[in-house]
Amino acid sequence: MPLLRAVKGMNDVLPDAIGRCHVVERAFAETMSRAGFREVRTPYLESTPLFVRAIGDTTDVVEKEMYSFEHHGEPLTLRPEGTAGAARAYLEHSVHAKEPVTRWWYAGPMFRAERPQRGRYRQFFQLGAEVFGDPGPGCDAEVIDMLVGFLAALPVPGVSVVINSIGSANTRQRYREALVEYLTPRAETLSHDSKRRLGTNPLRILDSKDESDREALALAPSIHNFLDEDDKEHFSKLCTHLDALRTPYTVDPRLVRGLDYYTRTLFEIKGAEAELGSGSTLVGGGRYDGMVRDLGGPEVSAFGFAIGLERLLIASKIESSTRVIDAVVVPLGRAAESPALVLGRALRNAGVRCEIDTRGTSLKSQLRRATSLGARFALILGDSEMAEGVVQVKNMDAHSQVRLAPDEAVQTVAANVRSITDDSPHATWVESKEAP
Ligand code: HAM
Repeated sequence: MPLLRAVKGMNDVLPDAIGRCHVVERAFAETMSRAGFREVRTPYLESTPLFVRAIGDTTDVVEKEMYSFEHHGEPLTLRPEGTAGAARAYLEHSVHAKEPVTRWWYAGPMFRAERPQRGRYRQFFQLGAEVFGDPGPGCDAEVIDMLVGFLAALPVPGVSVVINSIGSANTRQRYREALVEYLTPRAETLSHDSKRRLGTNPLRILDSKDESDREALALAPSIHNFLDEDDKEHFSKLCTHLDALRTPYTVDPRLVRGLDYYTRTLFEIKGAEAELGSGSTLVGGGRYDGMVRDLGGPEVSAFGFAIGLERLLIASKIESSTRVIDAVVVPLGRAAESPALVLGRALRNAGVRCEIDTRGTSLKSQLRRATSLGARFALILGDSEMAEGVVQVKNMDAHSQVRLAPDEAVQTVAANVRSITDDSPHATWVESKEAP
């Protein structure tokens, strides 16, 4: 029978790799909570019209990348991103009526039927955040600066921020017309995709990597010449704030993003280009002041971002502990098993991560397993130990051993094992390597 495999572009994360995910996820949760963001969890499955309305029906995501199906006549889609669901939840629970500003973060899998390659998957994990109710450029600057600090601390090398403003919906309508007017006489030289986009979503042509598209765009009008006074002021204040924060950035008037909901500020953060390639963006985000209204709610401004976790893990050299447990209890012979179980429970209750090896194999093979799990101590219980009412405590690093009464053995091991375990989020983040 052929082996059943995971769906293409959807990857298993085995326990050896999960430690690095946890380090990043905990660092993110800590960073967000320090800035007053609270975690929100929204469903993986939402109604298809939510994404069509929020993201835009001429975007690549909606046109060709959504996993959509009907269930009992209801059109459903596996979420391709987190912003639409967050805005839906914000509105559905009338959060706007309860608090003037809402700061949410989220972490979870997203689904897009893209062509899989390094750093691009069909199921991928995003760490994201949304601010509802704060229209000011200070909000944009605070979040961008916070992200730069988060990435630098991981660390991710070569972090660079690109910002742009695409103004309001009116601005974009006027710019779209000007761009179409400019590109139409050059349409013959455009790539196949861009020819199609000229009629559907011309702004996306600005994003094209195709050489002939780039040539055709060389003298294209800049969106900055179409911004109204309020848009311009928002953008210039954002730049002033970033300057005051000494957060380096570049302005790229050609920066557009693949989702149609953005207004005014757009930004992307790249890093570790040697590992990721220059085309891969780590973080994408911006302002989307019209989404809550477009979903049937009141006028509420919004700003947010999402980070691709897999890309972040490629970009960062962050390490996690390879120590699975602190101690193993080694019963030698079946008679030692029950006392070993009692000892193991006492160790766990004292905060020591421990495993009891009940395979009934030789001392040598049990100690080999203890080493492979990274155990610092082996607590050996054989006939002679049981006859004397003691436990042999072997320090695996120092290669020394002592015979102690069981209670004393538990206390000694617990006192020796570092208090920092994989369950203490901040400590693991700060101290990403094992202490000597
Ligand atoms: P996005 O630019 O589509 O924005 O995705 C954000 C990040 O998710 C990307 O920069 C990338 O790191 C990661 N990502 C996207 N697609 C894939 C993929 N197929 N495989 C691996 N990683 C991927 C959004 O999703 C917006 N919801 C961000 C946002 C929040 N804007 C406002 N609020």
